[in-house]
Amino acid sequence: MAHQLVIVLDFGGQYNQLIARRVRECGVYCEVHSYKTPISKLREMNPVGIIFTGGPNSVYLETSPTVSKEIFELGVPVLGLCYGCQLIAHLCGGKVSTAITSEYGKTETVYDTSSLLFKGLSEKNISWMSHTDYIEKIPEGFKNVAYTENCPTAAMECPERKLYGIQFHPEVNHTVDGTKMLHNFLYEICGCKGDWTMGEYAQTAIKSIREKVGDGKVLLALSGGVDSSVAAALLSKAVGDKLTCIFVDHGFMRKNEGDEVEAAFKDWDINFVRVNAKEQFMEKLRGVSDPETKRKTIGEEFIRVFEQEAKKIGKVDFLVQGTIYPDIIESGAGDAAVIKSHHNVGGLPDYVDFKEIIEPLRLLFKDEVRKLGEELGLSPVLVWRQPFPGPGLAIRIIGEITDEKLEILQDADWIFREEIAKAGLDKSINQYFAVLTNNRSVGVMGDGRTYDYTLALRAVTTTDFMTADFARIPYEVLETASSRIVNEVKSINRIVYDVTTKPPATIEWE
Ligand code: XMP
Repeated sequence: MAHQLVIVLDFGGQYNQLIARRVRECGVYCEVHSYKTPISKLREMNPVGIIFTGGPNSVYLETSPTVSKEIFELGVPVLGLCYGCQLIAHLCGGKVSTAITSEYGKTETVYDTSSLLFKGLSEKNISWMSHTDYIEKIPEGFKNVAYTENCPTAAMECPERKLYGIQFHPEVNHTVDGTKMLHNFLYEICGCKGDWTMGEYAQTAIKSIREKVGDGKVLLALSGGVDSSVAAALLSKAVGDKLTCIFVDHGFMRKNEGDEVEAAFKDWDINFVRVNAKEQFMEKLRGVSDPETKRKTIGEEFIRVFEQEAKKIGKVDFLVQGTIYPDIIESGAGDAAVIKSHHNVGGLPDYVDFKEIIEPLRLLFKDEVRKLGEELGLSPVLVWRQPFPGPGLAIRIIGEITDEKLEILQDADWIFREEIAKAGLDKSINQYFAVLTNNRSVGVMGDGRTYDYTLALRAVTTTDFMTADFARIPYEVLETASSRIVNEVKSINRIVYDVTTKPPATIEWE
């Protein structure tokens, strides 16, 4: 796939992945690599531009991440952001010092619009600043092209050497025209063509998968989640019925979900196998209430069922995995990029005999995976599905799982999701679901005493799922969901809303 490539060189800043996304949103393919990447490797990758990220350090400390000055001799345009900007100044002979007043937040900034970076922009606008150090003296041959009240060099450039630096963060939405600045760097300075579009990506991926697979047999474990569904859609377009998708329905999907997954793939030209294995899973989980034992039991049983089914196909040549870009690259200033071998279904490759793994989504971010799904005509139900844990509702039923509890939870969760969608909150809340606690309490319904389950509602906003905040759902929405659930679902007489963040809590209860 011959896309033009821009490299984001990671110095440990908090917005690194965001920079990469912004570049891709500009129609240019972009990868994040560690600052430790050898110059020879960078040269081999043949980028059309390099962006240095921000970072938490001061460039003048001995221990701070840095690069060889050789990078400036590659003839490739370099843009430094925040720490990256200071690093360029430092390495090129300028002076970086600690500021008397650190700048943080929205700051009025004046731009020199004769600079290609700021071409076509207003001369004065808001930028997002977050720095303690500042460039006291710019290197020789550089020109100051932006300033703020407290920061004499908010941007600098040396067009002859194709070196550019911006002290603030154009990748953050608060910087008005920030995307335009990145666009200018890419198109005016690096000469990008904008060859990264989803349609083009899909076509190239389909072609190369087709060539690779030839007459081989392809196997995919379909969970119904976004990644495996989009991978299935892509493979089906590429190799049609050489693909077999095995969907192990463990019975812990949300209400109607198993059928939805089946329906979504019914008309595709693939071999779709749905294994209804609920009884098997329930049998294994009888008497189990410890969360870890539940997870392990489900994981092991999953592999067993999958393996049984896979054996029926005979020899498989390729196994497809829905690995996406954030699973692969763990950038960070501490260490070189770590490659994680992420398995959608833990351990599968050890159990199934195959020649090679195909990871058709490994270059994509989650939102790009969704875009690709839409491009391929996948059902919106699957494309916009919220994340759902592998063990499913089994880890949202506290204590032992019974058929009755499963049905109660499916019904209650369905209502909660319906009310969230009705309130138009389904895109802004990243994950929302119900949990059936193992707690019973006394209530009154009609004239009688009840002694029923407490249901917890959980809804979070998050970008990375590593930390999360509880969603500020309007009381009216909670009220409607609560009264509907108590009225429509048997055996629930109390609803609580989980108002803990992660950490200290986790998103799931088990
Ligand atoms: P926690 O509960 O750890 O969850 O805060 C973070 C995110 O991961 C999802 N999750 C899982 N996803 N298999 C998965 O594919 C699992 O076993 C699993 N457990 C938790 C969870 O739903 C949340 O989005």
